[in-house]
Amino acid sequence: MKSKFELEHFEVLPKHVGVIMDGNGRWAKNRGLERSEGHKAGANVFRTICEYACDLGIECITFYAFSTENWARPEMEIKGIMSLLRSYLLEALDRKKENEEKGMRIKFVGDVSRVDKDLQKMIKIIEKQSAGKTRTVVNIAVNYGGKQEILRSVKEIAKGIERGNLSADDVTEELIEKNLYTPDFPSCDLIIRPSGEYRLSNFLTWQSAYSEFWFSDILWPDFTVENFNEALRAYEKRNRRFGGI
Ligand code: FPP
Repeated sequence: MKSKFELEHFEVLPKHVGVIMDGNGRWAKNRGLERSEGHKAGANVFRTICEYACDLGIECITFYAFSTENWARPEMEIKGIMSLLRSYLLEALDRKKENEEKGMRIKFVGDVSRVDKDLQKMIKIIEKQSAGKTRTVVNIAVNYGGKQEILRSVKEIAKGIERGNLSADDVTEELIEKNLYTPDFPSCDLIIRPSGEYRLSNFLTWQSAYSEFWFSDILWPDFTVENFNEALRAYEKRNRRFGGI
């Protein structure tokens, strides 16, 4: 497969990378622009990193696009982010063939029932049309919250107990995982958070139990393929012990 990027070689690649696309607002403010311009620039960086991760052959990458807490933002800003999402969805429908050739599967994690109906429709089509692709899963987290995800899983299990299909002893880590938004994906190996903030912000709460973290002061719209490589190099050197020695 031909890539437009110069692909670096890594001895170890994380199976699942989580990306918190933070710093769009500050990037715009630094330039005297509206916040929406920051999100627009951020969405373009998302496209680049998404494609690069796929060309590298990363199994799964999850981007935090809109959290359950982001509804607290001004309506104008929410509309702006949703409209960027709409543009991307239209583009993904249009790029069906290219994405297929790349082996890219596009999935959404989060409660998308709260977004506009036209977006929900496109999400369904795109998820369906790319379902068989296996090179890289691109997860886009929309109206996503890690705590809400766990709560949803627990409720599903409780329903099974209420119906008499399950007993308390059947509740295992595997069963909780089965009812998350990411049942078929590996747990998160590496979380990338730019913009100088050092927190998880309700992102992949369950899946990040043993994640490695890579932080940087770079604002997301300035984030490059080289920065992504830097994060992967740092990951390559980490000694993961998972509680062992
Ligand atoms: C956080 O930066 C960013 C968001 C809440 C939105 C991220 C969304 C996008 C990049 C667009 C998504 C579109 C697609 C196609 C996936 P911030 O606004 O909190 O930045 P700040 O902390 O500097 O204010």
